[in-house]
Amino acid sequence: MELKYKFPKGFWWGAASSAPQSEGAAKEDGKGKNIWDYWHEKQPNRFFNYIGPEKTSDFYHRYKEDIDLMKELNLNSYRTSISWSRLIPGGIGEVNQKAVEFYNNVINEMFKEGIEPFINLYHFDMPFELQQIGGWESKKVVEAYAVYAKNCFKLFGDRVKRWITFNEPIVPVEGGYLYNFHYPDMVDFKKAIQVAYNTMVANARAIEEFRKLKIEDGSIGIVLNLSPPYPRSNNPADLKASTIADLFMNRSFLDPAVKGEYPKALVKLIEKYNHLPKYTEENKIVIKNNKVDFIGVNYYQPRRVKAKENLPNPEAPFMPHHFYDEYIMPGRRMNPYRGWEIYEKGIYDIMIDIKENYENIPCYISENGMGVEGEEKYISDGFIQDDYRIDFIKSHLSWLHKSISEGCNVKGYHLWTFLDNWSWQNAYKNRYGLVALDLETEKRTIKKSGYWFKELIKNNGF
Ligand code: BG6
Repeated sequence: MELKYKFPKGFWWGAASSAPQSEGAAKEDGKGKNIWDYWHEKQPNRFFNYIGPEKTSDFYHRYKEDIDLMKELNLNSYRTSISWSRLIPGGIGEVNQKAVEFYNNVINEMFKEGIEPFINLYHFDMPFELQQIGGWESKKVVEAYAVYAKNCFKLFGDRVKRWITFNEPIVPVEGGYLYNFHYPDMVDFKKAIQVAYNTMVANARAIEEFRKLKIEDGSIGIVLNLSPPYPRSNNPADLKASTIADLFMNRSFLDPAVKGEYPKALVKLIEKYNHLPKYTEENKIVIKNNKVDFIGVNYYQPRRVKAKENLPNPEAPFMPHHFYDEYIMPGRRMNPYRGWEIYEKGIYDIMIDIKENYENIPCYISENGMGVEGEEKYISDGFIQDDYRIDFIKSHLSWLHKSISEGCNVKGYHLWTFLDNWSWQNAYKNRYGLVALDLETEKRTIKKSGYWFKELIKNNGF
């Protein structure tokens, strides 16, 4: 068969998920509480149809069945995370042996089926006890994370070779400290900046521990949700708004992770408004000396911006949006269920940026996907005919392919996600999987996109 898009040999084809979104068993075998368990207990109304993280797709008990299905779909790699509150209930102290047993079983089963595990250490799930002492605002929590990370490397690093420190570290900052969609549900720019900074100290501390252990063939990276900002026009005011959005939303994590230092323009801007975080020389050095080996890029939607239309209310809480407005481009194509614009070229623009401005560091698409509500209406012949998802993947892959042909160092593509999973406040509203989950019976059924993905991997292209 003549393929239009052929990918490099050894390309990582797979999918991503996370412990809190798939494991369930939130109270079993000694697992401690994390902020999601707590928030759902206190305010179940914040979650779509009141569904919390206690059940999800039950990977904790059904991991074998799910890994079998991954193999059936030809996945050669899969990212999930370790739940900190499962491995170390309370976040500090003794390791929970039941959790060690579970993660060993999962990792071994994946290798047995020829699927390489990519293990992420933190996917939005702060142990509740640590949130009570300030979460990422606290230096003590940063050190507890370094100890937790070291434990994970020691326990599983003999087999797991690809490690990830954080998934989208900007999201808990936005959700928890600015825009009210994660616990602790605060609105406080100064805290947000401190949390963002401390997360990057934690990232560097974990890398430092990783390097000390000299794990053979091991590499460690970070997963960032990036989007080039697209200004409304070339008007200098729009361009300025776009540059500032870029500093806040992309460079704030990309630069310290890859270059070991923050962009000067960002530091200057935050300083001007008197919001610099507390830091020590030691923090600066640890960030400088511990850079990532690779970047995972999560890409769902572009960020379009314009100059502010109205002066911000001087009494309203300070926000990054003090400097720019979101721009709703006429004629944009939308995924109406998630409310996100679909703009495939974004994936290419990000890769070119990494190539040109970040020394072409190895990277991969660690998430990309389409969440759709009410997919049952597309069932025919017993399974979901999700041609829209196939089209979505194809069009993104064609731009990714173009970036590779122009020399970008792209190692793979992981779809969000393998099996419909629980999504934070949206719970099971939008389904992203290659495999459908029946919430009542827990039955798994491959969608049309699953069969298509299987062929894609088999042919290493389409
Ligand atoms: C990413 C996260 O931001 O997007 C995932 O890493 C998340 O955890 C995914 O589920 C899809 O977003 P949402 O909000 O629709 O679940």
